[in-house]
Amino acid sequence: MSELDHLLHNNKKWAANMEVSHPGFFQELVSQQRPKYLWIGCSDSRVPANEIIGLPPGEVFVHRNVANLVVHSDLNCLAVLDFAVRVLQVEHIIVCGHYGCGGIDAALEPSQGCMVDHWIRHVRDIAKFYRDDMESQPNEAAKKNRLCELNVAVQVTHVRESPALHAAGAHAVKVHGWIYGLNDGRIRDLTPMVDSVRALEPSSRFKS
Ligand code: CO
Repeated sequence: MSELDHLLHNNKKWAANMEVSHPGFFQELVSQQRPKYLWIGCSDSRVPANEIIGLPPGEVFVHRNVANLVVHSDLNCLAVLDFAVRVLQVEHIIVCGHYGCGGIDAALEPSQGCMVDHWIRHVRDIAKFYRDDMESQPNEAAKKNRLCELNVAVQVTHVRESPALHAAGAHAVKVHGWIYGLNDGRIRDLTPMVDSVRALEPSSRFKS
């Protein structure tokens, strides 16, 4: 008897149901995966990639970390990007942030001196870089929401400028910026805003 028996039980039921609704489903997936989408999202348990876009196993290649960051020196994320673009040949890369992100909120609070703070520094830098924009927000809640959006915009830029996307054939990959609302379960497309944010940047920064 394990404390996790209920999870294993759930899994058994889920696999049996899948086999009933889609006979041969697992056997088809054994030989290969051909996802069209790479999802880069937050680790937050309330934002499960496949579930919120209604796609079954095999359809989305997923990378998640705290605050959905694409850091130029993060080998984990860079390897995922490279594999997704070069080997899986995904057609779309979606960076999906979410409002109410704990990682983003933490970036607006004093440092706690813990490990995750090193990671969150990347978001603090974004808040500093877009200080004027942040300060023009009417209240703290609006400021937090705005930083969630700016963060998505910056991470989309990082994906677009990554070596993986500059590799042969990568021009065909479209990169999208999305944001998910915890309060209504809806995703909003921020891609047009991503381009306007880019236009605000000093010409030398993020130039590809
Ligand atoms: Co989050």
